[in-house]
Amino acid sequence: MDVYGLIGNPVGHSLSPPMHEAAYEALGIDARYVTFEPAIGSAPEAVSAAETLGVAGLNVTVPFKQDVLDVVSPEPLAERIGAVNTIDFTGETPQGYNTDAIGVTRSFEHHGVSIDGRDAVVVGAGGAGRAAAFALADAGASVHIANRTESRAIDLAAAVPGASAGGLDTLSERVPTADILVNATSVGMESDETPVPAGVLHDDLTVLDAVYAPLETRLLREASDAGAETIDGAWMLLFQGVAAFEIWSGEDGPVDAMNEALRSRL
Ligand code: ATR
Repeated sequence: MDVYGLIGNPVGHSLSPPMHEAAYEALGIDARYVTFEPAIGSAPEAVSAAETLGVAGLNVTVPFKQDVLDVVSPEPLAERIGAVNTIDFTGETPQGYNTDAIGVTRSFEHHGVSIDGRDAVVVGAGGAGRAAAFALADAGASVHIANRTESRAIDLAAAVPGASAGGLDTLSERVPTADILVNATSVGMESDETPVPAGVLHDDLTVLDAVYAPLETRLLREASDAGAETIDGAWMLLFQGVAAFEIWSGEDGPVDAMNEALRSRL
């Protein structure tokens, strides 16, 4: 039996175990997926311990995604983003991937939304914002990053090909002509707040919200009212998991089974 796991602190309410175990069940794979909560600062030791114990693969979540960069070989996208959320132990050295970025592009693809050549606005310049900005730029979008702390957006845009940046005030100028909008801030999580003024939303826009609790955030509700297409945060969560599963197993992920396991718990 193979063991996979997640390290984070806290990891108590993670939806990754049921999502991955649904995949094992759907495909008849003899494996388990468990969570570990190492102390803050001890993620590198936890990765080494997992490798020693024969764990086949690890997901990595807050606050360890940067810490583990030192103990894995990051693939180029993870290195550029500066964060690893998936580690594969089956090679000679642990390989680090960033499937949060893959989750962004696959969420759009799954909904038939093309990214190449489109104008995208990413709100947020933290971990989720970095993943979204690199993913969309690599897929051919021209990306504008808007963040409450403008300097963080400017620093990120300097690393993302062709990107521009500004404070949240630039949303009123950028969103009306954009095709794609991603909320990569935590605004709207367990609250009825939105980082984007409703008046700038329009019916040529597809809006992806990284927040998944609640599934229908105020941003998505107002986007829907404006006639925009909406993609909720559970899709991003799903496809980062599907991509991790595929890296580890080498097989196509059973998207429907994983989606059902996830959504039945949200
Ligand atoms: P994550 O890894 O989830 O992206 P993070 O690195 O803490 O978490 O980043 C959180 C993001 O949400 C940042 O872009 C943050 O903006 P700042 O860089 O200005 O801190 C944004 N954010 C959090 N609370 C916000 C709020 N009330 N209004 C606007 N942006 C907010």
